[in-house]
Amino acid sequence: MDWLADWGRERAAAGLQRELTPRAAGDPAIDLASNDYLGLTRHPAVLDGAIAALRRWGAGSTGSRLVTGTTAEHELLEVELAEFTGAESGLVFASGYAANLAVLTTLAGPDTLIVSDAASHASLVDGCRLARGRVAVVPHADVDAVAALLRDRAEPRALVVTDSVFSADGDLAPLADLHRVVRANRAVLVVDEAHAIGVRGTGGRGLVHETGLAGEPDVVITATLSKALAAQGGVVLAADRVRNHLVNTARSFIFDTGLAPAAVGAARAALRVLRAEPERAGAVLDRAGDLARLAGVAAPPSAVVSVVLGDPERAVAAAAACRAAGVSVGCFRPPSVPPGTSRLRLTARANLTAAELDTIEQVLRTVLVEVPA
Ligand SMILES: Cc1ncc(COP(=O)(O)O)c(C=O)c1O
Repeated sequence: MDWLADWGRERAAAGLQRELTPRAAGDPAIDLASNDYLGLTRHPAVLDGAIAALRRWGAGSTGSRLVTGTTAEHELLEVELAEFTGAESGLVFASGYAANLAVLTTLAGPDTLIVSDAASHASLVDGCRLARGRVAVVPHADVDAVAALLRDRAEPRALVVTDSVFSADGDLAPLADLHRVVRANRAVLVVDEAHAIGVRGTGGRGLVHETGLAGEPDVVITATLSKALAAQGGVVLAADRVRNHLVNTARSFIFDTGLAPAAVGAARAALRVLRAEPERAGAVLDRAGDLARLAGVAAPPSAVVSVVLGDPERAVAAAAACRAAGVSVGCFRPPSVPPGTSRLRLTARANLTAAELDTIEQVLRTVLVEVPA
């Protein structure tokens, strides 16, 4: 496989080589890189939830959800998430990625047009690639382009696919307008709420809920349990008939081992904390505003603060300098973002302290001035 070395050299020449860096336990760096938006991964109640489920059900779920991999805990999580977001029902997957593959491959057939936002998450893109319908990619947040495609289509069925909070820029999809054209054209709106659950909407119920679309029969939500909900896994929140269809046809559900009980228990506990302390959702947006001010960029409507630096080398150097100064930040380069828009990606946490913000201010001030353009 000598060609792998050739491809590796090309990657390195473009500044796109990636390395795995194990995280040290008890790392003292300030975390602005993870998706632990509500600061719950180490919350005692969440750890207890994971441990209790682990002890009761074992380390693994032992099989596919359709065989031995469904526990009472999985079903409770599904009911609780559906109730929280206002959906008729929920179905838990081993990951958000698997949930997106499931929805796109099973709700679309050869007679389906799939219209996807240009900035849709990679897992939605891969779902589009695996689905058997015709895929049309529209410019980011372009509702008119969506409407034109839906109106002019030859296919009897159509899906419109979007993130609600976009993972790289942290901006919001125009969900109300999208739903209006979806409804007018008898299509279905598939919304990935990975970055919106726990952050947007009353008490973190998500942007679909905030937009007044909860429970609409032509809206299908997907989400991950690995960000605000501090665990692992994915979920589809939709009408009962969608759940039933997925259970019977989704290959990423049927041919995948059910989510581990500890993750289910952790997600349930995180949801209980969020319900008891709904102010966490507002706090994460406030802290994102603080981070944006310190980085000299506009306040985002989400937890994601994007500081675009341009070249991948510059973004990598800036991320390394932050790290060396005790602040861990994300670094997004192509293909995660378009060429020329490599960036630092800072994620806010509801429990960032004033002292941490002081340190972040000093570090960002130095790094953003010193790293050469
Ligand atoms: C928007 C979006 N959708 C889906 C996923 C995939 O979720 P998971 O990590 O649970 O597979 C992610 C990232 O993790 C994401 O950012």
